[in-house]
Amino acid sequence: MSGTGHASDQRPVTVPRLRTMKSEGTRITMVTAYDATFARLFDEAGIDVLLVGDSLGMVVQGQSSTLPVTVDEVIYHCRAVARGTRRAHIVGDMPFLSWQLSPEDALRNAGRFLSEGGAQAVKLEGGVDAAPTIERIVKAGVPVMGHVGLTPQSVHAMGGFRVQGKTEEAAARVLADAIAVAEAGAYSLVLEGIPSDLAQRITKSIDIPTIGIGAGPHCDGQVLVCYDLLGLTADMKPKFVKRYAEFFEDGLAAARLYRDEVRSGVFPSEAHSFGNVKVDDATASSLSLVRTAHPAYGPKG
Ligand code: KIV
Repeated sequence: MSGTGHASDQRPVTVPRLRTMKSEGTRITMVTAYDATFARLFDEAGIDVLLVGDSLGMVVQGQSSTLPVTVDEVIYHCRAVARGTRRAHIVGDMPFLSWQLSPEDALRNAGRFLSEGGAQAVKLEGGVDAAPTIERIVKAGVPVMGHVGLTPQSVHAMGGFRVQGKTEEAAARVLADAIAVAEAGAYSLVLEGIPSDLAQRITKSIDIPTIGIGAGPHCDGQVLVCYDLLGLTADMKPKFVKRYAEFFEDGLAAARLYRDEVRSGVFPSEAHSFGNVKVDDATASSLSLVRTAHPAYGPKG
């Protein structure tokens, strides 16, 4: 394996580099991140791409879908992620209705992720219908990552978060979407919630890297929501998720221990306290004179 793509390689991950990874057969790793601390963790681990996903609506804000998330909110989280990142490529997710209203609106919003959010690219959910917008954004110099298959912003149109492309006709539609997005100039494409063989066919049919989530092993890369990967989501365990840690369980145990130690007086111990400072009586009483003489402490009314 070439040095690039290895955790010790500190060169920033760029759009051309991601394209080369597909031709080299180096799998791309992508994880969502929403703040500087998690960004730093994944960046240091050598993850290639950090997606500031609109999934933040569900895992950070506690909403039941991604629909309420705004451009300003994603940009706020992008800025935090950018501060914690040195090497990874940062992608800002364009939320619901942030590109459909007019071509000008789409371009202005896309540009803000780069100029205000510190991202290097945007992601946009949509296929054939989104292709003219993708083309326009790309021509303005903003790299676009596409997203087809299960597109969570269309949750109501899909009748829930359902696997897409299961019939021959539906599979042909997802393939047509993928090709339209690639031809419009997107530099990579998320394939979400589709059968493995369809993902494989799409991956072979287009030149740009595919990044799968719930799309099987044949994509050029994989993405997971960081809260799923780290086991922070308590109730949701979708089939396509592998939990690499149990942060919720570990965090719960830690929080309970803290509660018990504070109640029992074990914490803080001397080791977690600052040394004693001797204050003689004269100093103490002169300090209390200063306090009562200060207007902020003086008698009211
Ligand atoms: O918002 C998000 O986190 C995403 C990924 C699941 C691809 O779009």
